[in-house]
Amino acid sequence: MASLPNDDTATGAAENPELARLFAGYTISATAWLVFATFVALVLAYKFGAPDFGSGAWLTFGRLRPIHTNATFYGWASIALVGTAYYVAARSCRTRLYSIRLGWVGLWLFNLAALLGTIALDLGYNSGDLEYREWPWPIRVIFAAALVVTAVNLLATVARRSTDDIYLSNWYIMGGVLWTVIIATVGILPWYQYGLGQVAVSGFYMHNAVGLWFTPLALGIFYYALPKLLSRPIYSYALGILAFWTNLLFYPIIGSHHFLFSPLPWWLQTTAIVFSVAMLVPVWGGSANFLLTMRGRFGEVAHSYPLGFILIGVVGYLVGSTQGTLEAFRSLQQVWHLTSFTVGHSHLTMYGFVTFAIWGGIYALLPAATGKQAGRLGMAAHFWLAVVGSFIYVIAMSIGGTIQGLDWVQGKPFIQSVIDIGPFYVWRGVGGILMFLSHLVFAWNVWRMTLGHGAGSTVQPAPLAAEAA
Ligand code: HEM
Repeated sequence: MASLPNDDTATGAAENPELARLFAGYTISATAWLVFATFVALVLAYKFGAPDFGSGAWLTFGRLRPIHTNATFYGWASIALVGTAYYVAARSCRTRLYSIRLGWVGLWLFNLAALLGTIALDLGYNSGDLEYREWPWPIRVIFAAALVVTAVNLLATVARRSTDDIYLSNWYIMGGVLWTVIIATVGILPWYQYGLGQVAVSGFYMHNAVGLWFTPLALGIFYYALPKLLSRPIYSYALGILAFWTNLLFYPIIGSHHFLFSPLPWWLQTTAIVFSVAMLVPVWGGSANFLLTMRGRFGEVAHSYPLGFILIGVVGYLVGSTQGTLEAFRSLQQVWHLTSFTVGHSHLTMYGFVTFAIWGGIYALLPAATGKQAGRLGMAAHFWLAVVGSFIYVIAMSIGGTIQGLDWVQGKPFIQSVIDIGPFYVWRGVGGILMFLSHLVFAWNVWRMTLGHGAGSTVQPAPLAAEAA
């Protein structure tokens, strides 16, 4: 059983500049989307205090909100994760990527979809209230085509591996691309896109986009980057496999917990709650595996920002997902349903977990691919602005959302709940500004690790420390 990713120098990025360029291309592109999407988010956050700001139709909240969510999901997180997955798959399989050309085709398709989707939403063309499926369906077909191209490329890369075992990261990567092709297809097919069927499909799509796309790819990064950074094997290969299969077993059915108290069949809602509790198995199993891999070495976080980003990502995964289980209970949903608490939860998971995992992966692996470092000061500024900013954001929304929900439970006039949550919206804006600044610093760091000259001495590209061990 391979508990340490076993890539070697011969096929590493040092000898494979094409792979390094592809990884860099994905990262630069994703970073541009992050900066754009979170600039839009700042406007959104500002509008909570100044609703009349930007009153033109194309600046309304209803258009900008899905632009933010779709651009973060499909422009930022998806593109960044696929770029990292290409690098991880090729390296850990000790082989070359199946097709660099397909990799670039996929990148163009992802970008085309995100660009057309953004323009369409801003012009008022959308699919209605289908969460994270607001892009008109022909544009979602382009995104699905990008997914298929990516899946073929990654699966073929693993198939031509020169190792006996399939390393853990590749289980997660293959699972992520395979499942998501299915999920995206279900989300596009016209049947059941009305009435209650549409509600069930919405729950299936939007929650699995998180749990069977972003989550496995982000976990794949942890399983590759952690052993590398620490020069020690992952604590337990078996635990990683258990978490993989239980994630697949329990996740697909839990989406309906977003529609508790809706006309969906009660048994379906109850099943979603039961499986949400079962999700503690992969979440705690996976998190324990990462934390135990780091046991006795937490002090090193002070010297390694990539490790710091990954540690925050692991904690975000553990806390955010456990919070998700709690939110699924009917008693707690009675308070939190439709409040800003959920917005805090989304950012704890998609930002605290997925986005930090991506950053950790990029800082750990991109310099090894391109041979160029991000400066320590730049990484420090990025890290602290992002940690403090997102902490303020999540705490503000969690407390404000709870107060909002309690006001509703107590039957207070709606406007009272608006007044009560007001100061927390201001704090969200403060946190958001820090987060956005961190993204600008990240963009600078990405520039240095790719097109720029790099900071200080260049890194010796592959092998990383783990190979030496
Ligand atoms: C500067 C950083 C960010 C700021 C200021 C910000 C702000 C916002 C705002 C104001 C909303 C609308 C909330 C509402 O309707 O009450 C929102 C929604 C959302 N954002 Fe962000 N965001 C940021 C970064 C991100 C990132 C990086 C991601 C994902 C990778 C993300 C994912 C989401 C999601 C999933 C929602 C929908 C929340 C829900 O309905 O539960 N955000 N964000």
